[in-house]
Amino acid sequence: MRTFTITDESSETSRILCRRDILERVLGETLKNYRQAFLFSDETVWRLYGTRALRALGNIGVFTMKAGEEHKTPETLLSLLSAMAEAGLHRNDCLVCLGGGVVGDVGGLAAALYMRGIDCIQVPTTLLAQVDSSVGGKTAVDFCGIKNLVGVFHQPKWVYADPAFFATLPAREVRCGLGEIVKHGALCPEIFDTLEQNRDKLFDLAFLADIVPLNIAFKADIVRADAKEGGLRKCLNLGHTTAHAFELLDGRLSHGEYVLIGTYFEAEISRARGGDGAYLDRLQRLCLAALGEMPALPDAAQAARLACLDKKNTGRGRIVLTVPFARGEYRLLELGADEYEREIVRIGREIS
Ligand code: NAD
Ligand code: GLY
Repeated sequence: MRTFTITDESSETSRILCRRDILERVLGETLKNYRQAFLFSDETVWRLYGTRALRALGNIGVFTMKAGEEHKTPETLLSLLSAMAEAGLHRNDCLVCLGGGVVGDVGGLAAALYMRGIDCIQVPTTLLAQVDSSVGGKTAVDFCGIKNLVGVFHQPKWVYADPAFFATLPAREVRCGLGEIVKHGALCPEIFDTLEQNRDKLFDLAFLADIVPLNIAFKADIVRADAKEGGLRKCLNLGHTTAHAFELLDGRLSHGEYVLIGTYFEAEISRARGGDGAYLDRLQRLCLAALGEMPALPDAAQAARLACLDKKNTGRGRIVLTVPFARGEYRLLELGADEYEREIVRIGREIS
């Protein structure tokens, strides 16, 4: 069992607990502190864990959304808020989000907005949600075709991370979480070493159970120092600019798989600008171990041009990248749009 605490600049405190049997042994006890709680999940997670949740929590209002990023919308948010209002939730009540990052982001935003903010308890059920999205208080829905365009920071009161949920997780979703874990490895030597030592076990449930608290500890340190992403927290965008470039163009892979590809490409960009070649080779080997093999990629030039148009990334025809540089070190690089496109095309050609 591991616990972590984050207190942000506005003294909002978030506690994170990693242990098994969360639903049966912990959540019910926590909910006794509230007059009423309401549970939000998605249909896939609810099919797998709804019976167990209801057995553990007793009589609790429930709203489920359709699973998937395409439903991370203002419409789903409004439907959830309506269900919370119909259930008569009050300011001192709480919302429990049981699911992956989509449920956590939509539910976190609903909790932030409802009566100007009620308590939110995150029970992340995917690897990505446990190591990344449930920690740190970022909430959002997609809007006008732009990911996470509308959202706020609202720290969850509790995050309960139980590795038992991984037993039902498809390999593709594990790979998705590994994308953010390898990214953390590029920033944190302890995670990097653990990944390298276990390169042939990346999908083993026992390994995943061990690596989650390490990742939460790392992310909690970053969020404690910079909860609102004024500076340091931007390091968590490592590999993401190029990941978004390919993700925007062809959405066949999961976000985490694009992060692994983006990290691989940006390691190459870094190498050409003084990055530590031997270390970057090792990082790229980790990306490939998590990916299995480098997938066929769409037209790199088109992807690069799309990234340069992304309203959240750039301005003035330039693009900002957070690239791995050396063991535990990253650099912020600003490249001209043409230079970025040339690099992405070059690297795409070299690996194909
Ligand atoms: P997700 O929530 O869509 O879950 C992936 C799939 O796995 C879904 O179909 C879901 O129903 C299913 N699932 C969930 N738990 C399961 C389980 N235990 N067993 C079997 N199936 C299960 O996706 P995700 O990868 O968890 O999260 C991605 C989202 O997180 C994106 O919207 C991304 O923008 C967001 N995100 C947010 C932050 C943040 O800081 N808030 C950080 C990273 C990512
Ligand atoms: N996932 C990046 C962040 O939380 O800042």
